[in-house]
Amino acid sequence: MREGTLRIGSAAVPYRYGADCLDALCEGIEALRPASAILALDEAARAHAEPLLKRLRRRMPVYPFVITPAEEHKRLSLVESLLDHAVANGADRTSVVLGMGGGLVGNVAGLAASLLYRGVRLVHLPTTPVAAFDAVLSLKQGANLGAGKNLCGTYLAPAMICCDLAWLATIPRPGLLTGITEMAKNVLAVVPDWEHAFEEALAQLPERPVDAFDTLFALGLAAKAPLLSADPHERHGALVFEYGHTVGHALESVFAGAMSHGEAVAWGMLVAAEVSAQLGRLDQADVARHYLLLSSLELPPAHTALGSVGREALAARLATDNKRGHIPCSPGSVPMVLLRRLGEPVEGPDGRPLIPVPLDVVFDAFEKVAATEVI
Ligand SMILES: NC(=O)c1ccc[n+]([C@@H]2O[C@H](COP(=O)([O-])OP(=O)(O)OC[C@H]3O[C@@H](n4cnc5c(N)ncnc54)[C@H](O)[C@@H]3O)[C@@H](O)[C@H]2O)c1
Repeated sequence: MREGTLRIGSAAVPYRYGADCLDALCEGIEALRPASAILALDEAARAHAEPLLKRLRRRMPVYPFVITPAEEHKRLSLVESLLDHAVANGADRTSVVLGMGGGLVGNVAGLAASLLYRGVRLVHLPTTPVAAFDAVLSLKQGANLGAGKNLCGTYLAPAMICCDLAWLATIPRPGLLTGITEMAKNVLAVVPDWEHAFEEALAQLPERPVDAFDTLFALGLAAKAPLLSADPHERHGALVFEYGHTVGHALESVFAGAMSHGEAVAWGMLVAAEVSAQLGRLDQADVARHYLLLSSLELPPAHTALGSVGREALAARLATDNKRGHIPCSPGSVPMVLLRRLGEPVEGPDGRPLIPVPLDVVFDAFEKVAATEVI
């Protein structure tokens, strides 16, 4: 089992990740001495939760609240229902909120924990690769508003993160792809020396998924820990984790859910690499390494995936990119994370890894990626 402490600003977050480690995870939660546990549970993780619940209930009262995770349900009304459930079951200020599931359930549990009695302790029990390697390694908790994703939320440090890596093995392909893509992003934008380990993990996935997940978690931690330690609210250096997300979010919106987040971000990283090359920042060898690394994700052919996306549709989505508030940006440009070398973002005037890019440059790069025969 991997056991350690993640520093996020001034917070120290203990974590335990392993296989066949339910007793150790329960001991970790018990050591928090909660009066009771409110378990926000992803309905797809029910089978994984049963053996955990059995063990936890020997140690404390546990009150499950099952969530059907869909972005249209990730609203303040869901958080309120979870809070009502906690109070109706006698939760007090020493109780813990457990979030067991994907990133969505983790965010909802986190927001509820930060609101209940103005803050109780939160324990993440991630069951998807995105949650385990990325979403729970953060202070960000949130919900969607009618106007868009994650538009309200709080910052709360989890009291603990506990994960049995075997939970992740039941995730269907789109969720797996998204988790892997976020780790490919970490390799390209933050820790290029992890390229070999990443490729080895992908090769191990079919036969030895838990070993592969262990490596991918270590990669996620290696990328996030130093940046989160210095930038806990992810407003400065940690903005590099938005690599590929400008065009990625636009594509997700164009396809209205028919393209997974992982696939969209993978295309977004290729577009970002081509943009950076066009601006004379990234050399062709590093652009080629993007194509090579992302070819291991087995994406559909680029012209099939992207051929139907026109400039107007892309421009409409880029106009509402959520990074606009970070730096001044004219209507004819969009803020992007770009690389000048693998692992080295281009710094904007204020030192953040974000620069305004003219839309025409983005469109040209997009069309170049869409016309690529092989990735
Ligand atoms: N820092 C952050 O706060 C942060 C970072 C990244 C993502 N997020 C948020 O996380 C969410 C995305 O997370 P996600 O990709 O985990 O998606 P998700 O939470 O929507 O889960 C995806 C699907 O996997 C199912 N699932 C969960 N565990 C499973 C398992 N073990 N086996 C089979 N199916 C399982 C879920 O029921 C769901 O249908 C978004 O809401 C996003 O905004 C937050």
